[in-house]
Amino acid sequence: MATVITYKNSESYHLPGVVKLADMAFGEGYLTLELACEISNFLVALDVDRVIGYAFNTVEDGVGNISHVVVDPRYRGRGIGTELVKRSVEILATYDISRVESQAWQRSDNRVVPLASALEANGFSRIKYLPNFYNLDHSEDVPCNVCGNVCTCGAWQYELQVNEQDTL
Ligand SMILES: CC(C)(COP(=O)(O)OP(=O)(O)OC[C@H]1O[C@@H](n2cnc3c(N)ncnc32)[C@H](O)[C@@H]1OP(=O)(O)O)[C@@H](O)C(=O)NCCC(=O)NCCS
Repeated sequence: MATVITYKNSESYHLPGVVKLADMAFGEGYLTLELACEISNFLVALDVDRVIGYAFNTVEDGVGNISHVVVDPRYRGRGIGTELVKRSVEILATYDISRVESQAWQRSDNRVVPLASALEANGFSRIKYLPNFYNLDHSEDVPCNVCGNVCTCGAWQYELQVNEQDTL
């Protein structure tokens, strides 16, 4: 039987699974359980009750942001990342915002991070390159999985206009 993936807003019992995926993708300590509990509102992708993907959505100063999109390596390449972005946009568009932004990791080793494709598949446009974007997030205590203590990875800024009909 084909696996059925479901998507929902996180409950507290999902958070250890979220942190495990963040450790794997971004390095241990990047997202602590304490911080995850404080933030709490993740969109999670579930295989039955197991967290196999998540995205973090925020709204600040009238702009939505999608960050931390992660899919368990065993489930990648099946459209789950693209679906997390699609559903994140739907959630964010319910707020009084005119655009959603997202930053797609450009690894310093130049290996492909397919979030850019998932954003483009959802209509996002590439705006500009942000050098050393994750530098302040990493240190000796929280090394980057690619660069170590001093992170030189950049990011591509993406944007999508939403709620355009409301302004007519
Ligand atoms: C980015 C990520 C969430 C994508 O998740 P996913 O479920 O594999 O994504 P999808 O299956 O929806 O695929 C998205 C696109 O990537 C492509 N893709 C998937 N796996 C790929 C791979 N291993 N190599 C190259 N491209 C790949 C798909 O073909 C698709 O592109 P298309 O729409 O042009 O066909 C996942 O790779 C991941 O968790 N990476 C590590 C964490 C990370 O870097 N997050 C982003 C931080 S900005």
